[in-house]
Amino acid sequence: MYSSLRILLYTTLTVLPVLVSGQLNDLAQRRGKLYFGTETETWEFNDTTYLSHLNNVREFGALVPGNSMKWEVIQPGRYEWNFTLADQIVDLAEHNGQHMRCHNLVWHEQLPGWLVNGTWGKENLTAVMIDHVVREVTHYKGKCYAWDVVNEVLNDDPNNGTLRSDMWLDIIGPEYIAIAFEHAARADPHAKLYYNEYDIEFKGPKHDGAMKVVKMIQDAGVRIDGIGFESHFTPSTAPGLQEQMDCMKDFTDLGLELAVTELDVRILLPDSPEELEQQETVYVDTVEACMNTEKCVGMTVWDFWDQNSWIGPLTWDLYYNGYGEADLYFANWTRKPAYTGIESALKHRPSHW
Ligand code: GLA
Repeated sequence: MYSSLRILLYTTLTVLPVLVSGQLNDLAQRRGKLYFGTETETWEFNDTTYLSHLNNVREFGALVPGNSMKWEVIQPGRYEWNFTLADQIVDLAEHNGQHMRCHNLVWHEQLPGWLVNGTWGKENLTAVMIDHVVREVTHYKGKCYAWDVVNEVLNDDPNNGTLRSDMWLDIIGPEYIAIAFEHAARADPHAKLYYNEYDIEFKGPKHDGAMKVVKMIQDAGVRIDGIGFESHFTPSTAPGLQEQMDCMKDFTDLGLELAVTELDVRILLPDSPEELEQQETVYVDTVEACMNTEKCVGMTVWDFWDQNSWIGPLTWDLYYNGYGEADLYFANWTRKPAYTGIESALKHRPSHW
């Protein structure tokens, strides 16, 4: 008797808090959203605390692989396919009852050497692209809530709304975009097909350029279901709540659903209470913009633990030197003000959400 009580107490005190503590997905779903999700990668599964958060469907209702569905991983050789890593993430999501955002099919980065260094003409590059799209989408048929079919097709500069010059545009022409959507739709008629982009969450030429891309796909008579607002922000440049909502409306008015796909908010290190508060404001504004936009189906953070974020000292030679602490949990697993801010916004905002 005594020992079973002890087991019960032990279970209640140790296992339960982990299971019930995070509830962002639960709260978002109660407000009518499909999910509150996170990016992840298989190398992160080794950390048991990380994994217990990831497996908690009350916290995260959708997963997206950071890298393992990208071209260089999936098709490292012309006739070589490797779904091993991505399969692990899809299996985990299936096991946990989480949605999958599948990311991505056609992009200018993280391409294998054989593709980048090959000699291509329009016809054979189009065939290679179609083959990649169809095989990958077919492999995950029925398992992806959404596919990011094309990623970041516009120039980086937010003041330049034109298509990015890369091998796809230069060799195939702008029609590569509609062709990719057409074949993704053929391979999985039920997956929602997205165009994912950054710096379109505020008004300007790039935002307008992204609307033109959507219209171009629609004018070609091809299905596009959604637009992904990446939302990699920093407090000094992030758009406010109203601007984010206005930008979302521009795309939902085109008949699309929308998702916040890669949310994180980097701050200048070392942190300060002021910066953490500004970070909270940006996170909360973004979540509120989605909650206030009926056709925004969900929000995904680009990982949730500072220790593993793509922005920080380990990657400073590559990205955003001096910035870090972009995620919802500090490296020591303390919750950021941003976390509690989102949680209380989801709990306490008026019911028109
Ligand atoms: C972009 C891509 C993502 C990822 C991030 C950086 O936003 O869409 O796949 O590579 O950059 O981590």
